[in-house]
Amino acid sequence: MIEDLDPEEARAIVDPALRLMMKTVQQYGGYVAQSTGDGIFALFGAPVAHEDHPQRALYAAVRMQEELKRYSDRVHAEGRIPLQARVGVNTGEVVVRSITTGEGRTEYTPVGHSTGIAARMQALAPIGSIAATESVRKLCEGYFVFKSLGPTKVKGVTEPVNVYEVTGLGPLRTRLQRAAARGYTKFVGRQREMEAMKHAAELAKTGHGQIVAVVAEAGVGKSRLFHEFKASESGWMVLEAFSVSHDKASAYLPVLDLLHSYFKIASDDDARSRREKVAGKIAVLDRSLEDTLPYLYALLGIVEGMDPLAQMDGQVKKRRTLDAIKRILLRESLNQPLMVIFEDLHWIDDQTQEFLNLLADSLANTKILLLVNYRPEYSHQWGSKTYYTQLRLDPLGKESAEEMLSARIGDSPELAPLKQLVLGRTQGNPLFIEELIEALFDEGVLVRNGTVTLTRPLGQLKIPPTVQGILAARIDRLPPEAKELLQTLAVIGMHFSLALARAVVQQPPEQLDRLLSYLQAGEFVYEQPTADVEYEFKHALTHDEAYKSLLTDRRMLLHERTGQAIEALYHERLEDHYADLAYHYGSSNNAAKTIEYLRLAGGQAVDRGAYAQALANVEPAVKLIEQLPEGTERLRAELDVRLVEGMAVSPLYGLASTERLHTYQRVCELSARLGDISAEVQGRINVAGVYMSRGEVSRSLEIMRRCVELAQRSPGGELIPVVHLQLAIILHDAGDSVQASSLLSDLITHFEPARQEAGSDYLPINPWVLTPTVFSRVQHTLGRPDEALKLSELALHRARQLKRPFTISLAYVAAATLHYERRELVAARDLAEAAIAVADEHGFENHLVWGRSVRGWVLAESGQTAKGIAELEANAAQVLANFQMQVSEMLAQAYLRAGSAHRAVSTLDEALSRSELAGMHFYDASLHRLKGEAILMRDSSMIAQAEECFRKGIGMARSRSAKSWELRATTSLARLLRDTGRRDEARAMLAEIYNWFTEGFDTADLKDAKALLDQLRT
Ligand SMILES: Nc1ncnc2c1ncn2[C@@H]1O[C@H](COP(=O)(O)OP(=O)(O)OP(=O)(O)O)[C@@H](O)[C@H]1O
Ligand SMILES: [Mg+2]
Repeated sequence: MIEDLDPEEARAIVDPALRLMMKTVQQYGGYVAQSTGDGIFALFGAPVAHEDHPQRALYAAVRMQEELKRYSDRVHAEGRIPLQARVGVNTGEVVVRSITTGEGRTEYTPVGHSTGIAARMQALAPIGSIAATESVRKLCEGYFVFKSLGPTKVKGVTEPVNVYEVTGLGPLRTRLQRAAARGYTKFVGRQREMEAMKHAAELAKTGHGQIVAVVAEAGVGKSRLFHEFKASESGWMVLEAFSVSHDKASAYLPVLDLLHSYFKIASDDDARSRREKVAGKIAVLDRSLEDTLPYLYALLGIVEGMDPLAQMDGQVKKRRTLDAIKRILLRESLNQPLMVIFEDLHWIDDQTQEFLNLLADSLANTKILLLVNYRPEYSHQWGSKTYYTQLRLDPLGKESAEEMLSARIGDSPELAPLKQLVLGRTQGNPLFIEELIEALFDEGVLVRNGTVTLTRPLGQLKIPPTVQGILAARIDRLPPEAKELLQTLAVIGMHFSLALARAVVQQPPEQLDRLLSYLQAGEFVYEQPTADVEYEFKHALTHDEAYKSLLTDRRMLLHERTGQAIEALYHERLEDHYADLAYHYGSSNNAAKTIEYLRLAGGQAVDRGAYAQALANVEPAVKLIEQLPEGTERLRAELDVRLVEGMAVSPLYGLASTERLHTYQRVCELSARLGDISAEVQGRINVAGVYMSRGEVSRSLEIMRRCVELAQRSPGGELIPVVHLQLAIILHDAGDSVQASSLLSDLITHFEPARQEAGSDYLPINPWVLTPTVFSRVQHTLGRPDEALKLSELALHRARQLKRPFTISLAYVAAATLHYERRELVAARDLAEAAIAVADEHGFENHLVWGRSVRGWVLAESGQTAKGIAELEANAAQVLANFQMQVSEMLAQAYLRAGSAHRAVSTLDEALSRSELAGMHFYDASLHRLKGEAILMRDSSMIAQAEECFRKGIGMARSRSAKSWELRATTSLARLLRDTGRRDEARAMLAEIYNWFTEGFDTADLKDAKALLDQLRT
């Protein structure tokens, strides 16, 4: 319509309308962010937060439409073209960008999805009306009346959204009334406060008027306490009045409220019936009060004709008006005791305050109980009155809060963790508890289906908008410096020390102390009773809200500063702060520092044996690497992180795992590019370790030989020991125990427990423990059973000292295996159980399976053959390739016990062909011997074949100096020779090997040999 008008004239009509709209926005505490030619864009709740910003927006919208209608009628009456407007409302997160304009003023521009939807609502609203989204309706239903316009497709949103027309004000005024609509939670606690109020009521009833003030933070339960108290009393006339947050500027609003309810005036009564109600009531009450009528009429806006008070001085008129109301109340209290309730004095207007002061001064000898409540930021002057009581309401105690939660969501044990979380976050504030739970129902995390159940695991608890609004508004009411400090503290953390706050805040100490005391008095933060001065945010929710209210740039700057302050302040014990440092630098986008501290924290976790936690640090660090500028430093940073990763993947995913292989292949790549010999050695050792664990002994041996060359180039040859250790392990598996032994005997005194030691990080098992572990096995093979036992005990002792779980479980399982070789059932079983327990607790699959195999063998040997075989078979498939031979050996023995010679033979044949392929010859001698035994058992006439097997076993053992195996195989052969009439040969062979031994005479093998020898000698 405007298009048809001459621009001059259009402006003459539109501009006043725009001014009117802006004025309305300001009246309700909104902010006009933009004014287009024919409309405005307004924000409520930002840049200044209000806990009821959606309501304010709707109040403003309703008022705006009313005023525009009036304006338009006027314009129309003047013969000009009338105008109409549409209003659209949405609520949600917006980011507010601040711009300082040329004149030094700051302007705020909202950005974000929510603003676009508000604009779409405006376009959808029927002309002359208000359209709002579902989220607005959710928060304001009851305060306003909503009419559905049905689901509508909105640009930028995939699903159709519900749109509502706001048709006017609803019946509800306060939050508690709204809570009543969804059903009050069972009332809990508050016995002491109820007692105190009862006591005051008793006094008032006997003519000693009382004032009770209840003070508490938002949502702690002031209104609910009054509500419960009212319900518990009888015989009173109760008059109630509320102050409302957005109407502080409107005079007398609560008083008007009170009068409306006293005179029973309904909202649709016209002026005349209102006058009749007022006059009628006064006439009944006391005719001598009829002089108050002109004042009441004027105040209620129902004067008929000329106002008799029109010429009266404003001050005089006000005083008399207040006095009139007071006299009415005092008079009324003669008929029955009178309970006058004024809620939310923190929002009270000046006139109502004056009225309250007047009433407070004059109720000492009346039957009036004046109940008021307010939040801590408000104060009054009645404190010195003898008939005044103040009740400070604290958040609910743990028990009451739990009772409340149980009433709300029941007692199912699966909800216990949720309850703890809610209690922790809300610190017993009943409103916050209700809202958090309600939000969980809304999101579908909780469902009520007879009982309440949890539908998915809990993540972060989101702060519901209602709670967020309250907290944000409280923070915004702080003086600017205090608010800024609170925000800064929120960046430092939920807990912080004074020293750290000082370093980050960079203000003179006196000023900081003053502001801190201010925040403490306002109960934003607590001082912690510790040795150092430490503080804590009172509410996790306040912390989160203060944190969120910072602009991103500022937040990043403060995180960076906090990181630097921690480094400076705690440089002597930085290791206690790695996680914090990683967090702060991570939040300030300082990739290099974040990676460094994540790596350090990861290394610390490895030291504690918390491998999963170590990876939780390493993984984000790896992701950040890309953000570093390309070049040497980036390669170095990644290498360092990968080295920590390697330490964690072996225990977690297994020694033969692809994860271990990939991590260390990457280590090899990076270190080769950097020319870092030490890291490259570490990489190769572990790659070799993977192949060895996969049973590819020849391949791993090859890698180790190249590794030796590399280590010789390390400064002072410092890497040679660790390379030799790994080489010894592989040589032993390959069957070369002699060379392994000569390497190990040099190494046994070399390593130290400390991680700093060169090379101590190179293997997943600490070398200080690994060396005696491996050496023990080698010595046993070489025919030194006692020496082997001592080394095994040394390894166990060292592992226990070191306290690294992966190393401990290895030491146990290796010791169990030694006792298996020694055929000592009890010790083997006990150590296997110990290994199983540690491996099971930490999820070390390799050690678990190995330990269970030893246990299976013990079972089979001790009479529970079937059970033992079952356990061995179950684990055979999962065991690492380099232990498969051992498990085959165990299984074969168990089959022999069970009399299943056929199965024993096929198991052994299979193992022997595998050993050939893999180049793993350590078990060959033993496997051949067992095969000979199995053949004999299968068919006692197959003497030649069995003999061949025994001789093969003896030959192999001899060529490798594996004296223990030689003894066993020779004992087997000697029996066969004895039974086939060749006693002399038997005795000679057996005596030769038996006499070689110088120790271990109490082991089963040597005792068996001795017994046989004795028999052959007779
Ligand atoms: N003792 C209690 N037991 C159970 N529920 C409670 C208790 N106290 C408060 N509540 C519930 O918590 C919510 C907030 O309480 P209430 O409205 O009384 O807080 P308030 O202190 O008046 O807050 P405000 O300052 O915002 O007015 C209400 O829904 C109320 O029912
Ligand atoms: Mg209240």
